[in-house]
Amino acid sequence: MADATGNKIAKNYYVDVKVKQDGFYLKGLNGYDWGIQDRMTRMFNKKSGRTVMLAFDHGYIMGPTAGLERPDVTVLPLAEYADVLMCTRGALRGCIPSTVNKPVALRCTTGATLLRELSYECLGVDIEDAVRLNASAMAIQVFCGAEYEHNSLENLAKAVDAGLRYGIPTLGVTAVGKDMVRDARYLGMATRVCAELGCQFVKTYYCAEGFEEVVAGCPVPIVIAGGKKLPENEALEMCWKAIDEGASGVDMGRNIFQSDDPVSMLKAVRSIVHDGETAEKAYQMYCDLKGK
Ligand code: 5RP
Repeated sequence: MADATGNKIAKNYYVDVKVKQDGFYLKGLNGYDWGIQDRMTRMFNKKSGRTVMLAFDHGYIMGPTAGLERPDVTVLPLAEYADVLMCTRGALRGCIPSTVNKPVALRCTTGATLLRELSYECLGVDIEDAVRLNASAMAIQVFCGAEYEHNSLENLAKAVDAGLRYGIPTLGVTAVGKDMVRDARYLGMATRVCAELGCQFVKTYYCAEGFEEVVAGCPVPIVIAGGKKLPENEALEMCWKAIDEGASGVDMGRNIFQSDDPVSMLKAVRSIVHDGETAEKAYQMYCDLKGK
């Protein structure tokens, strides 16, 4: 118990030692609370400042997807090579044991399938369930320019508010509507809107022209989706270009789990994202590891 009398006098205030006030290592996130920064640090490697996220949330709009028919069989062996798992709560609870112990970016929007208007979404997960699942981030789809743009932006704003209450970052996912092209003008607008609404990081697509400006115009880190399955060398080339032009990582799905050798592909992607390998070297690595 503390005593009121007889205590040593407190005098070691180290007045000549400046308090260390290092900026937080991720772009635009210096002003956030401890919990947000801690969760971002779990997802983004402190040395490289980047992340390799494995997206396998496709079933929430597509149902069984090639490569994801049995996530317990196909995704589990990949988990150890990913920095973050991006998925729905159903796939997480059903197919991924908690002992895998990886940060989770939880898909939190719902309301549509491939059969209907995709932008007609709402928030589909309570913040309490995100907390219960120890989510490191909530992933919210945003459809700028689509029919239900308003709803998706409202979903995002509400998720950001809830996330700030509990210290959980929000990942804005910029989906492209039917009539929208994936060019720098559109992606630059959509990513910036997500950041302005308070997302701590944003997922978008790579575009061949002007991607550097997309990254520069977004005040928080950007990760890229892989999109439809490409030949492995092309997917690695796209990954390298995105990193070279300022992306803070990838959130890739089909180009990993639909690859001929998903583990080798994931390792090759990691070599670009974290070790700065060229696309050629990463592809060579993929070929060397493939089938072993
Ligand atoms: C849907 C998503 C998916 O997670 C994402 O598109 C999957 O990645 P990939 O395109 O690499 O298969 O966010 O909007």
